[in-house]
Amino acid sequence: MSTEAKTPVLEMKGITKRFPNVVANEDVDVELYPGEVLALLGENGAGKSTLMNVLAGMYRADEGEIFIKGKRVEIDSPRDAMLLGVGMVHQNFMLVDTMTVAENIILGLPDLPFIPDMKDVHDRIRQLSERYNLQVDPESRIWQLSVGEQQRVEILKLIYRGAEILILDEPTAVLTPQESKELNGILEQMTREGKSSIFITHKMDEVIAFSDWVRVLNKGRLVTVKQTATTSPQELARLMVGRDVLFRLEKKERNLGEVALELSDVSANDDKGLPALSGISFRIHSGEIIGIAGVAGNGQKQLVEILTGLRNVSGGKVRIFNEDKTNKSPLDIINSGVSHIPADRIARGVAGDMSVANNLAMKCYRKPPLVQKGFLHPARILDLARRMIDLFRIDTPTPQTHAKFLSGGNIQKTILAREIDACRGLLVAAYPARGLDVGATEFVRKQMIEQSEAGTAILLVSEDIEELVTVADRIAVLFEGKIMGILPSSEADTETLGMMMAGVTLEEITA
Ligand SMILES: Nc1ncnc2c1ncn2[C@@H]1O[C@H](COP(=O)(O)OP(=O)(O)OP(=O)(O)O)[C@@H](O)[C@H]1O
Ligand SMILES: [Mg+2]
Repeated sequence: MSTEAKTPVLEMKGITKRFPNVVANEDVDVELYPGEVLALLGENGAGKSTLMNVLAGMYRADEGEIFIKGKRVEIDSPRDAMLLGVGMVHQNFMLVDTMTVAENIILGLPDLPFIPDMKDVHDRIRQLSERYNLQVDPESRIWQLSVGEQQRVEILKLIYRGAEILILDEPTAVLTPQESKELNGILEQMTREGKSSIFITHKMDEVIAFSDWVRVLNKGRLVTVKQTATTSPQELARLMVGRDVLFRLEKKERNLGEVALELSDVSANDDKGLPALSGISFRIHSGEIIGIAGVAGNGQKQLVEILTGLRNVSGGKVRIFNEDKTNKSPLDIINSGVSHIPADRIARGVAGDMSVANNLAMKCYRKPPLVQKGFLHPARILDLARRMIDLFRIDTPTPQTHAKFLSGGNIQKTILAREIDACRGLLVAAYPARGLDVGATEFVRKQMIEQSEAGTAILLVSEDIEELVTVADRIAVLFEGKIMGILPSSEADTETLGMMMAGVTLEEITA
């Protein structure tokens, strides 16, 4: 496509944004033409979200200029951005849970009548849903929707408001592979209408599938601008990390130890009281990694909650290290040696107003050497924190910085460091690499393998088949709350797993 003659719909020139102790963006340029999709890449903490928040009016740049359709503009608030046709879907959604889809979509619209005609609004939402193939019922309430559906609402909200430039901050980190394909369809429809988008992702195959151009940030500076067609996933990974990234991991032969976890005929209901799991039986030995595969929403959430004391079973038994832990409290379960990397890291994973150091030490609070004669030992907490920040390469100005000021991926690293470090028996890991850059993903996978070699039993819930096959020893596939079969990773090809994820049992496949 020749873009030479057209005016860019967006130019950002020389953008610099500083926070206390950090230069998040330094002299960054962005250029975007109508109908283009730009992928923004960079390691965790490179400054991607910050740059887009400047464009969306959440932050004000310290230096630099923004031009929309050739005209210099001042963007001082999300409202200014919206009036200029710029809309952003944030890394953490910003919907009001108790309101309906339609109410969320019109919330804060500038020219809204005092009593809006909701029938009109519903009709318009339905039209847009159809045009962009974004299925969602305008009358449902947000809390009733899956994460994927909530994201559709966020996108609809922006289209409803007439966004010409759509910014998506890691839109697929929380989506199933199927939903991520749908998102690609939405972007293509927008492109056909001449709208443009910028999206942030850590998944290289999506960069290749979705985008026309790629810009790579490194420590706040723009280091590469490339036309997508002229690059490859390997090259992009190297440009981001500054070295070759190995996607192959070595696994040593291990001797399996005692049974760490045993589920016998477990069943459970979901929040609405409907059956979510039934007849779940399997064991994990010390030193073994079991992967749970399946499209999200097939009982993974309930399984993890049962294993961490957050949900009661409606039938069956849970044994952890040979003790009955059925329907025991979270504390009881933590004390029996279970660590947990939660899927919902912002809500459950960290205390945002506490320092990174205290977040890292949280699991060890009751034990020596952090506690002495009943008192916390600040110097030892700091020592522990420095060691973990170093090992996990957590990008934080100081150990005392509040966790909420870290970038999305670095919050995830903080949780991983704490849970993996504190782990003394069984690790329940839900989507551990979600939101991590390629280098950090590789590191976390290695850590899990090393932990299992040291004798930890690991339950790894993931949607990434490649991750399951490289990390897990055996893979169990969940479909509509039942296990379709358990097979060794060495025998788990994409086709077999795909069929099981769609509801065919292993027995039926091998029959
Ligand atoms: N509100 C804030 N206050 C202080 N520092 C901040 C704030 N927001 C971001 N930072 C810092 O700015 C830097 C860039 O963060 P940013 O969130 O833009 O990274 P990112 O590229 O989006 O990373 P990720 O892939 O992890 O989401 C980080 O060092 C982060 O700690
Ligand atoms: Mg970010």
